[in-house]
Amino acid sequence: MIRMDKFVIHSGRPLKGHVVISGSKNAVLPIMAATLLADGAYEIDNVPDLRDVKTMSKMLLSLGQHSEYSQNRLRIVSGKCTSFQAPYDLVKTMRASVYVLGPLLARYGQACVSLPGGCAWGPRPVDLHIDGMRKLGAKIDIKEGYIHAHAKSLKGAQIAFDVSSVGATGNVMMAAVLADGQTVIENAAREPEIVALAHFLVKMGARIEGIGTDRIEIDGVDSLHPADASVIPDRIEAGTFLVAGHITGGTVTLHHADAGHLTALIQKLRDSGAKIETGNGTISVQSSGRVFPVDITTSVYPGFPTDMQAQWMALMCMARGSSVITDEIYLDRFMHVAELRRLGAHISLDHNVAVIKGSGQLSGAPVMSTDLRASASLILAGLVAKGRTDISRVYHIDRGYEGIERKLEALGANIHRELEELVT
Ligand code: UD1
Repeated sequence: MIRMDKFVIHSGRPLKGHVVISGSKNAVLPIMAATLLADGAYEIDNVPDLRDVKTMSKMLLSLGQHSEYSQNRLRIVSGKCTSFQAPYDLVKTMRASVYVLGPLLARYGQACVSLPGGCAWGPRPVDLHIDGMRKLGAKIDIKEGYIHAHAKSLKGAQIAFDVSSVGATGNVMMAAVLADGQTVIENAAREPEIVALAHFLVKMGARIEGIGTDRIEIDGVDSLHPADASVIPDRIEAGTFLVAGHITGGTVTLHHADAGHLTALIQKLRDSGAKIETGNGTISVQSSGRVFPVDITTSVYPGFPTDMQAQWMALMCMARGSSVITDEIYLDRFMHVAELRRLGAHISLDHNVAVIKGSGQLSGAPVMSTDLRASASLILAGLVAKGRTDISRVYHIDRGYEGIERKLEALGANIHRELEELVT
């Protein structure tokens, strides 16, 4: 018998009120890894209280680095590493652990990082990270499930990625800041989390040009120094709450949010019948009471984010009419389809294209979380599915949404967490 948390949701009123958006998970994780690049004390604020942040702290601890977390502030005291190994046990629970590869290699000339393997929804390769490190002069062997990387010293290089990758851009950037000479990354990721990492590295003394463009130039420096950071708002959490407001026919105002990071989603929400207003750090959504079917195709930033695809699907189930969702980033990221069907959704799937025949209705049922964003989609569906929806294995959601049930309850949702005993 194993015990796990589940959410119990009863559909109910339109959501109404204000919600404060937390710091971005995907921005804080590479910043934490970057603290390996220079000894000293770092103060990072607006750090979300998430399982992935704890996992990255454990990863740093396993390398000999201490951190303290209290009230959304993280203090990391970085010293000489006592290990250069990112163990499978940690990497398998959080792929972003692979971010330690670049800093360890740059600073210590060695790293041994477990290959992350697949994800619930398909393969997630790290070949671009590895190719990037090789171009910088590292010798890399893959043995017994680990990436063994060595380099006497890294040398700047021209690196043109075939595919735009957030992780590979961040990892190579963290390696190149201490390399000899200039590195140019072509087809670099432009996501706000990469921009935030680049700004943090610059604060540490790195020389980086082209931040926020797809051509990043890095001039290596001999050493870096500690810096403080304030984590940018989580655009995916913000997007999820905008959809929550619209799907329930409500009116919700987000605070500490950055509308500039959400232009594609905001446009699609408007097309689907929501009124959106943006202010200084605020975004308000007011539903028209109807959801219109709107097609989306995910793409790299500033396109529609793959991390909002599952939530958009829940919304489209409540539209009257057909819509098409195409995921061009992760072709297999559709684990939520089978669970949404359990709530009465009519969805057909052909490779990476889903067609949703929205009827404007869902009905409650027990469903299972399969991954982080799929869980968010099920919660959104549960808010409007007639009756009761039980969502098991919510540990997935605790990886990336800070106090989601508390925030939803404050907006009037009927949601609570229960302990569930699962027979094994
Ligand atoms: C990051 C985000 C994740 C988001 C994704 C895409 C973090 C911690 N995670 O993941 O939430 O869904 O960006 O916006 O920031 N690829 C390769 N080889 C590689 C690396 C990636 O082929 O070595 C491919 C992937 O299969 C995918 C595409 O590149 O098709 C983009 O992936 P990438 O941007 O690397 O995603 P992550 O950094 O893993």
